[in-house]
Amino acid sequence: MIKVDKLREFMKSNFNLVKDIETDQMKGLPQPSLEKEYDTDKELIDLKPGDEINIQNADLISNIKNRKSHRKFNNDPVTKDELSFLLWATQGVKKIFERNKKAYATFRTVPSAGARHPLETYLLINNISGLKKGLYRYLALEHKLLFLNKIQDAATKITSATQGQKFIGEAAVVFIWSCIAYRGEWRYNIASHKAMLLDAGHLCQNLYLACEGIAAGTCAIAAYDQDKVDKLIGVDGQNEYSVYLAPVGKY
Ligand SMILES: Cc1cc2nc3c(=O)[nH]c(=O)nc-3n(C[C@H](O)[C@H](O)[C@H](O)COP(=O)(O)O)c2cc1C
Repeated sequence: MIKVDKLREFMKSNFNLVKDIETDQMKGLPQPSLEKEYDTDKELIDLKPGDEINIQNADLISNIKNRKSHRKFNNDPVTKDELSFLLWATQGVKKIFERNKKAYATFRTVPSAGARHPLETYLLINNISGLKKGLYRYLALEHKLLFLNKIQDAATKITSATQGQKFIGEAAVVFIWSCIAYRGEWRYNIASHKAMLLDAGHLCQNLYLACEGIAAGTCAIAAYDQDKVDKLIGVDGQNEYSVYLAPVGKY
């Protein structure tokens, strides 16, 4: 059984210890890619630039004030452009920074420790106008969607994978964020894991605020079954694993 006290340690910083460790970056080992590779035979879907989309409410003060968790969604679709806006707000790449003539880091709409950006975005799409249902991945560098596969009984599967939280299966789209751990470990070794989870919070808060902009709602989800969600998005659960979810819908 995991001890509560042990887990408290996980919340604390290891940056004082990592200075005595030679990280893989210091050893000169190759840097992990900034984005997970993908099968180029799979369908790619263009998205409008996320910052060029007209949204209903662009007032930051009211979006911060009105943000709350939504657990009831209606059947109105989210449009493809609105989805593009949400993806840009949560992971949009603004700049690729080069070091020694190689892509070293990305600067995005959210911060990330050491600009490592270890998170990937999967989307379980149910009701986005112009897109078929199924599992997709957001390619942040290209600002495109990659269609991965159809999911049979998606609503039942995602509900079962999130401890019976039925409203998640009723959302227009479920954001599922995974972590590719080595992206952080390469630079920060034992200090990376806490930071990578902190990164996830920034994505989700931007999603809340961006949802306000398109008159949609979301709810942060940490109560989920690790194996079931990993299996649903097709990741190995070791090098890459789910860390956070957020269903989005109109209400
Ligand atoms: C890390 C985290 C995990 C959460 N997990 C869940 C969850 O699994 N299910 C759920 O219904 N709400 C979840 N929530 C939403 C909280 O219950 C919600 O933020 C809280 O009740 C405050 O309400 P508000 O967001 O409307 O201010 C989570 C929120 C956070 C930040």
